[in-house]
Amino acid sequence: MSSVESQRRVVSGMRPTGRLHLGHYHGVLKNWVKLQHEYECFFFAADWHALTTLYETPQDIEQNVWDMMIDWLAAGVSGTSATMFIQSQVPEHAELNLLLSMSTPLSWLERVPTYKDQQEKLRDLDLATYGFLGYPLLMSADILVYRAGLVPVGADQLSHVEITRELARRFNHLYGKEAGFEDKARAAIQKMGKKAAKLYSNLRTAYQEKGDAEALDTARALLQEQQNITLGDKERLFGYLEGGGKVILPEPQALLTPASKMPGLDGQKMSKSYGNTITLRDTTDEVSEKVRRMPTDPARVRRTDPGDPDKCPVYQLHLVYTDKATHDWVNQGCRSAGIGCLDCKKPVIDAICTELAPMQARAVEYENNPDAVRLILTEGAERARDAARDTLAEVRQAIGLNYRRG
Ligand code: TRP
Ligand code: SF4
Repeated sequence: MSSVESQRRVVSGMRPTGRLHLGHYHGVLKNWVKLQHEYECFFFAADWHALTTLYETPQDIEQNVWDMMIDWLAAGVSGTSATMFIQSQVPEHAELNLLLSMSTPLSWLERVPTYKDQQEKLRDLDLATYGFLGYPLLMSADILVYRAGLVPVGADQLSHVEITRELARRFNHLYGKEAGFEDKARAAIQKMGKKAAKLYSNLRTAYQEKGDAEALDTARALLQEQQNITLGDKERLFGYLEGGGKVILPEPQALLTPASKMPGLDGQKMSKSYGNTITLRDTTDEVSEKVRRMPTDPARVRRTDPGDPDKCPVYQLHLVYTDKATHDWVNQGCRSAGIGCLDCKKPVIDAICTELAPMQARAVEYENNPDAVRLILTEGAERARDAARDTLAEVRQAIGLNYRRG
């Protein structure tokens, strides 16, 4: 695959932690649903990553993967628009993890901030393991095995994308040297034609000598347009731009998912660990019950006490779910004690149920048709393996493990 195509690939994973909630939907899934129409997307359940912390209690992982896959499908992730699969069904991730581990400095893993942070946070788990230290390395393998250009992640995962970039750079530096690379690169430049060749060389100098990132982008765009050089030459010239050798594993970019603004039932961020979620499969009755029990502005003890929406978690949900006219109605009615809290909650309950209805209809269909889900996941794993195998063939070849002599 050329660097050009790799820029159009997206990879992301999610650990199977149980049923998904509105925060997942508004934060991550809606974004994936959009991306799947714009890019070649690989989305997977990171069951091995779950095992790095839950190795003592793996019993729930399978059910959680299953529930999560149905939630993805319900939210509109499609097994045909995207490639959807389970990480452990693509063993190529593990092979690349192993090969990368050989050249991964221990200190790089030890200084990833999530390593110490999570050990502190998950104190009841023994995370002084090789597997947990390797969490970011496994994530790097997940990404690099598809030579993806973009990785949609939340802010908490940025340091993992950063180490992925460093590991890719190190790998290319160690193994991307082809015999006579410089000569081949120079010959390839000449094949582009006089004008393009000159432009490429100037841009390369601007990047290498002055770190001009715009020059790098322009040069990449220039290479993409070239019709009369071979793919091999194109790859070389992508590598030559940044100095080293051939780019075997391109450095991905993080595509930062804005922090979920979804407020939970208690006004804190919606999160399973706070027990303040509405899940995508909550029934109308459950949604209604949860919202009706939500705390409101503590100043409104009685129906006749006026309140302040800015001090009320229900109003946070209004801001996500209802329109301006409704916000005005709440402000007016709350501050004058003109409406009761149950009146106020009604439009929120309705809006959430309306949003969930089509998702729940799809979820039921998949629940009743597990074979269809299994088929999506086996086909996904097949497609993922095809892509991953191509990368591994080049990786083995670059390291010198191709054993073609025997
Ligand atoms: N570590 C990620 C998380 O907890 C999940 C993940 C695993 C991932 N592998 C990935 C995300 C590869 C993006 C790309 O959210
Ligand atoms: Fe909150 Fe609405 Fe009650 Fe005001 S009327 S306190 S905004 S629930």
